Amino acid sequence: LFDRLKPQAPDALLALIALANADKRPTKIDVGVGVYRDAAGGTPILRAVKKAELILLDTQETKAYLGAEGDVRFVQLMKELAFGPGASDSRIVGVQTPGGCGALRLGAELIRQAGGGARIFIGQPTWPNHAPLIGCAGLPMVDYKYYDRDSHTICFPQMMEALEEARPGDLVLLHGCCHNPTGADLSLEQWDIVSAFMARRGLVPFIDLAYQGLGNGLEADAAGMRMAVERCEQALVAHSCDKNFGVYRDRTGSLFVKGANDETAQLIYRNLLSLARTMWSMPPDHGAAVARIILDTPELRADWEAEVKEMCIRIRSLRARLAASDPRLAYIDEQNGMFSMLPLSPEQVKALQAEEGIYMAGSGRFNVAGLSDDNVDRFAKAVAARL
Ligand code: LMR
Repeated sequence: LFDRLKPQAPDALLALIALANADKRPTKIDVGVGVYRDAAGGTPILRAVKKAELILLDTQETKAYLGAEGDVRFVQLMKELAFGPGASDSRIVGVQTPGGCGALRLGAELIRQAGGGARIFIGQPTWPNHAPLIGCAGLPMVDYKYYDRDSHTICFPQMMEALEEARPGDLVLLHGCCHNPTGADLSLEQWDIVSAFMARRGLVPFIDLAYQGLGNGLEADAAGMRMAVERCEQALVAHSCDKNFGVYRDRTGSLFVKGANDETAQLIYRNLLSLARTMWSMPPDHGAAVARIILDTPELRADWEAEVKEMCIRIRSLRARLAASDPRLAYIDEQNGMFSMLPLSPEQVKALQAEEGIYMAGSGRFNVAGLSDDNVDRFAKAVAARL
């Protein structure tokens, strides 16, 4: 039976973790996978998370099953965090998922289950796991050019031209903030244009919001997404806690879906539960319980918000330092979140790895938040020498 399986290449991003770990050079720089590092180069557990874990340890009385929906209080708090005043909209239903990946996959399965042959329009480049996650559910994907590596700008006219081809009910995958891999986010004016267009044409935004708080703050990072969801009759939002709560390995996320009315929203909810049951049955509890305790406890919430702000400010200051180091890197300061792309060929990326111990994705994407105060200047110099 298994002889017929095809060989599978290891996931390129995850493989980078092992490659960088195996490099024993003390000067190595790991800007591969998207994990936040502090000024000293570590990824400590957030203060608020540690405190909430202690509370959880002390107060949790049972580990009995919750249900396919997960922790409903967590989902409500995430709905408020993501949608702000829009969270009172009962046409938006949500369930807890295993990370943002689980949310994207569940959303794609829901679309498949709904039938109707909807296609999904995906701007390129995008996070390399988007197509596999969505493709697994069998959705036809239509690619368009989102970003121009040479000019470091969003190809907005090309994007709008590509969306002209979309039919009512087709989906548009958008990054809520901190575009991965480019850092190039739609401006609010562009969100306004694309939201109005999607609403007019009956298109359905499918928004990946994986970095809320790390671009320009918790509220600002949700503004474009909120506009699109408010304007469009139907929408999906995959929301991740991995980065802003730093609970990467705890797989903590949620999927929100907006239906045309309350009745459809309830139909969507029942379908989400039955689909989740066939994939993971129930989502892992720990990360969601921790996030719930943080958001429900005023002192912890304030501390967490301060920590998110600290991460955001640090990323912004690293961006500013890189931009100031060479005019050819100036664009990095205009972009947001953990990632930006360098106009390097895969060979140049390999050379940086071999000669300098600098680990980044083959596309030239690097994790700004992976740099430390000690190595940012050396990184900028090594990169500039190869541009
Ligand atoms: C990344 O893009 O590096 C992160 O989102 C981690 C992952 O799962 O790929």
